[in-house]
Amino acid sequence: MNREDFELLKKNIIYFDNGATSLKPKKVVDTISDYYNNYSANAHRGDYDLSLKVDTKFEETRNLVKEFINAKKAKEIIFTSGTTDSLNKIIFGYFKNYLKENDEILLTKSEHASNILPWFELAEQLNLNIKYIPLDNLEVTLENVKKAITPYTKVISIAHITNVVGDVRPIKEIIKYAHEHNILVIIDGAQSVAHHKTDVQDLDVDFLAFSAHKMLGPTGIGILYGKEQLLNNIKPIIFGGGMNASFQFDKTRIYNDIPSLLEAGTLNIAGVIGFGESIKYLNNLGMDKISEYEKSLKKYAIEQLKKVNDIIIYNENSESGIITFNIKGIFSQDLAIYLNKYNICIRAGNHCAKILKDDLGIKNTCRISLYFYNTKEEIDYLFEILNNPNLKNEII
Ligand SMILES: Cc1ncc(COP(=O)(O)O)c(C=O)c1O
Repeated sequence: MNREDFELLKKNIIYFDNGATSLKPKKVVDTISDYYNNYSANAHRGDYDLSLKVDTKFEETRNLVKEFINAKKAKEIIFTSGTTDSLNKIIFGYFKNYLKENDEILLTKSEHASNILPWFELAEQLNLNIKYIPLDNLEVTLENVKKAITPYTKVISIAHITNVVGDVRPIKEIIKYAHEHNILVIIDGAQSVAHHKTDVQDLDVDFLAFSAHKMLGPTGIGILYGKEQLLNNIKPIIFGGGMNASFQFDKTRIYNDIPSLLEAGTLNIAGVIGFGESIKYLNNLGMDKISEYEKSLKKYAIEQLKKVNDIIIYNENSESGIITFNIKGIFSQDLAIYLNKYNICIRAGNHCAKILKDDLGIKNTCRISLYFYNTKEEIDYLFEILNNPNLKNEII
């Protein structure tokens, strides 16, 4: 769908690495240039027209994000530099003050490094225990969440969709159960918000983190969503301009309320404005249409890839547009480099989920991650190359 809007797709590229980052429609790129060319003032600083225009555009994006994820209030939307930054702000800004020695944090082994390493750091600082929800066929089930919860469990922090095997977790049920046991839930939405409708009120999620660059937007901009009462108890971990109302030589200071409390310094203004355009784009296309299309394309891709000799597909039944596979006897990175000769971009490696290898039984895989601009024809071309009876000889 909508391929004509993407300049890169006119360059004979087959882009199957949308889990890493999505392509950007021309409209988004033009919006960013327009800011730099025509009104590149700072936000929330000036009393002149240019700056006021920036303020309007900036806050317009906040409102667009609010509507997009159905948050109750615009002030629950905090601009960050991306999912990693959002998760660090949640973990060190909120949970560092909330958790006590021996409390337990529930994760899974397929979480991205950004949802594991900050917890390792905090666990060491506060003597907390990290536990992993056992995976069932690489997937999270409510039953296994129930089994993993103890009276010490205080927070569950998991991706809605993982970047490795693309399993869609039963988030709503997990959140409901967690809340019945006074456990807070953080959702890493890096791989999900771009691909299907996310409604934070319906999910009743406590915190949500996601990145603009995986949803047609610019790099270096992301969102920290939190329920208002939780954000009101978060402590900033970055201090400086924009987040204070006043301060004196004797260290007395008054900080602003959210959202600006958590947005110290000059943010990526062009990124915020560009992100607004990408949300408008996704709204116009329709999130339901996007997820339906991806589902059918994934089904087609699986049907085709299953015919390839010696292929092992690790996540045939997962519901996202992510396909993780290996071809017996070929190292994943060698296959990715080989496909590059045909202008096909796929990802190979451990996909930043380094501890999943224990469950997967393998360290490296190839990953195709689809988006709405991918087509059956692109998959046919990939199939043709992988189905070459001489493939192994050509690679090895
Ligand atoms: C599931 C998941 N979480 C977190 C991240 C980190 O996102 P960012 O690099 O945009 O901060 C990624 C990026 O690939 C991801 O896939």
